[in-house]
Amino acid sequence: MKISGNVRPPGDKSITHRLLLIGALSQGRCILRHALRSDDSQAMSGALRSLGIEIDDAGSDRVIVNGKGLQGLRKASAALDCGNSGTTARFLLGTLAAYSFESRIVGDRSLSGRPMKRVTDPLTLMGAKFCFERNDGLPVIVKGGRLAALNYGSPVASAQIKSALILAGLAGGVEVAVEEPQRSRDHTERLLAELGQDIQIQPRSVRFRPGAAVPEFAAEVPGDMSAAAFLIAAASLAESGELVLERVGVNPTRTGLVRVLRSMGCQIEIAELGSSLGEPIATLSVKAGELRGVNISRSDVPSLIDEIPMLAVLAARAQGTTRFDGVGELAFKESNRLELLGDNLRRIGVGVDSTDDSLIVHGTDKPLGGRIETGGDHRMAMAFAVLSAMGNSGVEVPDRLSPVVSYPDFFQDLSRITGDA
Ligand code: S3P
Repeated sequence: MKISGNVRPPGDKSITHRLLLIGALSQGRCILRHALRSDDSQAMSGALRSLGIEIDDAGSDRVIVNGKGLQGLRKASAALDCGNSGTTARFLLGTLAAYSFESRIVGDRSLSGRPMKRVTDPLTLMGAKFCFERNDGLPVIVKGGRLAALNYGSPVASAQIKSALILAGLAGGVEVAVEEPQRSRDHTERLLAELGQDIQIQPRSVRFRPGAAVPEFAAEVPGDMSAAAFLIAAASLAESGELVLERVGVNPTRTGLVRVLRSMGCQIEIAELGSSLGEPIATLSVKAGELRGVNISRSDVPSLIDEIPMLAVLAARAQGTTRFDGVGELAFKESNRLELLGDNLRRIGVGVDSTDDSLIVHGTDKPLGGRIETGGDHRMAMAFAVLSAMGNSGVEVPDRLSPVVSYPDFFQDLSRITGDA
């Protein structure tokens, strides 16, 4: 198959969440260009509106957030529904830990099964109170107030944990230091540093010191590398052609996929264009090529955590074996990705070995076929849809709905670059 065309991927989901929430805590009118508009970002906007923040997203490429200051949120009259969005739930838990009113946080079935104590345990050390209706998932009621400073060693490399704690420090006006086993994405730190906050960033730790108010800001949201990943993968499976991806975020804590794909034999060029609020933006050109298996180590994982479904699917079409180590966190994503990836790959005829922390995929060039179970997970649906579109029509992906949480135009963009539109 041939690939061609230029695509500007949707705005980065992680950065959109941060700009919406930190915009709400700012001193004024914040303008976001190319913000993601999807079910996940709507979950964040909806929750912030319920907390008294005015957000105008009626314009075609601008979202305006009218910030009310660090202590400007108001008690919501109903539960805050985070839908499928783990980032929304965890960031709200962190922020609302600094407010003395009660908030009830709920989510859909998938989100209700995801762990929240990894965030509420350290927030409890700061003095916030949480009431779980079930073991470790939503719904949860948060009641915060005056917080104590925190110095925390996180057992998992998670930007959601790290950011939730920094947000508690920001809204609560207390010092927060977090250390993590590997470096996770650093969007919160970059943004706060650009906005004049006192935040010191080390390779595996961060220290936030309160003081300054957050000024109003204007920013372009870079294209989402984790959405671009699916189109990059389609290009790397093609027999010929070149794909250009415009204005993509290339923060090094998010570009593990590019590094791994290059080592698998894929040609990817990056031309940097500049940056917006500390986030570098670039044009990416990807050429079709032959793929070979590689080893992905524990230290690579945080920089490509959301790309593992797509990489595992590519590994199925690479020459030789690809080994992923240190991927136990996949069990806690929108689905149990470790288990579901293995099941789906086996189902279509690919050899897979897995443990609770590793995945080994044996590449094959034989015809693949079978029906994919996505468990409602957007990235599972998109990864196998790419495989199906790139010459493996025996692979059926009946779930065409799940991508709305992160990439509503996914199927149109995929059809466009494969000439199937
Ligand atoms: C995110 C961090 C990652 C990622 C998620 C978004 C963020 O989760 O999987 O899709 O925006 O901070 P963890 O930090 O829990 O690994």
